[in-house]
Amino acid sequence: TGLAGCASGESPEQTARLLPSAAPLPDRFNRPFAVPPVKRPAGKADGATRYEITQRAATVELLPGLRTEIMGYDGLLPGPTIKARRGERVIVRHRNELTVPTVTHLHGGHTPAASDGYPVDLVLPASGSYGHGHQSHTADGVITRGVRDYEYPHDQRAATLWYHDHRMDFTGPQVWRGLAGLHLITDDEEEALPLPAGDRDLPLMVMDRSFGADGSLAYPSLDPNLASIPGVIEDYSPGVLGDVILVNGVPWPVLEVDAVRYRFRIVNASNARRYQFALDPAPPGGTAFVQVGSDGGLLTAPVEHNDLVAAPAERFDVVIDFSAYPVGTEVTMINKLGVGSTDAVLKFRVVRKAADESSIPAKLSTIEPLRPGPNAPVREWRFARERNEGRAHWRINGLDFDPARMDAEPRLGEVEIWRFYSDLHHPVHVHLDPFQVIRRGNRKQGQYDAGWKDTVDLRPWETVEVAVRFTEHAGRFVLHCHNLEHEDMMMMAAFRTVG
Ligand code: C2O
Ligand code: CU
Repeated sequence: TGLAGCASGESPEQTARLLPSAAPLPDRFNRPFAVPPVKRPAGKADGATRYEITQRAATVELLPGLRTEIMGYDGLLPGPTIKARRGERVIVRHRNELTVPTVTHLHGGHTPAASDGYPVDLVLPASGSYGHGHQSHTADGVITRGVRDYEYPHDQRAATLWYHDHRMDFTGPQVWRGLAGLHLITDDEEEALPLPAGDRDLPLMVMDRSFGADGSLAYPSLDPNLASIPGVIEDYSPGVLGDVILVNGVPWPVLEVDAVRYRFRIVNASNARRYQFALDPAPPGGTAFVQVGSDGGLLTAPVEHNDLVAAPAERFDVVIDFSAYPVGTEVTMINKLGVGSTDAVLKFRVVRKAADESSIPAKLSTIEPLRPGPNAPVREWRFARERNEGRAHWRINGLDFDPARMDAEPRLGEVEIWRFYSDLHHPVHVHLDPFQVIRRGNRKQGQYDAGWKDTVDLRPWETVEVAVRFTEHAGRFVLHCHNLEHEDMMMMAAFRTVG
């Protein structure tokens, strides 16, 4: 079967398996780039901005001439973008009009436990009785039917966040079917910078998907309500890779750009795929990507990359300077870890010269280094695949996720050292507060570890140490592998922050 760590059909860098589309793959680079719509507030009340999002089934055209049924926030893939300011209290009312329970998590949010989307805090479908036999873990959760208000104080710096489903055991299939969207926080510091802005500040939410012959989203799921392919879940437990690359929901789009600087918020929203982005052709005499931000917002100073490796859920906020290219150049953003159709992501067409007021300052922001004291608590988290009763389990410290078991109780305000160790590639994500990478293998940091991170790309047989401090919000949260199939196969742990 496909349980060998290095998958068939894709680069050995991947731990996952390619699920080939039965539908014909569309031509690449002939559909226009699109940006997800920005959500309009439903109103303001009690000092909070209110939004209302309906999670519902919708039929959309992702592949030319084919109809794809999705599960979308407001029926969109990706969902609408929420834009907020630092300190702005936002309440998002999610209404579940799907046929399955959902849980919504704001990834990167400094969010109180009640609104963080603990994996068993289910919102049951608004209508109908969700069949029993699917609620085996609900005893530990706060269950609501139909609607739930998620409250975000946004007491955090400007950053590129995203929101997505987090239902225990079913995050992979539900995100795959469309439950993901962007959530951007801005603040005065960021706005004062001369970085490219307005329509030169664009999100690139990258996800891979596969399609059945009729255009349906193919996914090997256990849940009969999710149109499964029976019997193959075990084969795909290392992770599902699609052969169609969507950028903001459009397969391999083409974007016409002026010969100036653009800022791109790259979000790897794929279930299991890692990318190594590069530009082809490379900018003559220049650097492909100047990174200005990471998961947790602005870096202290820009970092130059010609290649950018992004694991699932990581964000890279980068500037590309198209003035390095003659007008008329077509520049492809390629994926060096992809094979065949997945070796490219989108194409830029440099169409005209234009004025450019933007610049990249040498100093972007200030980041207080987290310094663990000599007696700082050290916690070890070992991410590994194990077999139990003949079945592959993805586990942390040899344990399956149990939402009722607290695996750590960090004290609020205290800097701790968390040591992650992995057998394969695992993108490790911690909820509630970001961390700083203080050691990767025998180096201080890897080249993609700068700034505040909330997801770190663990590579095979590697130890990564991070310094983390949970500042406020007592309650229960999770850390997990953000390969969503690993997460669903139990590679998740719970912790309770205590005051
Ligand atoms: Cu992006 Cu726990 O999730
Ligand atoms: Cu993993």
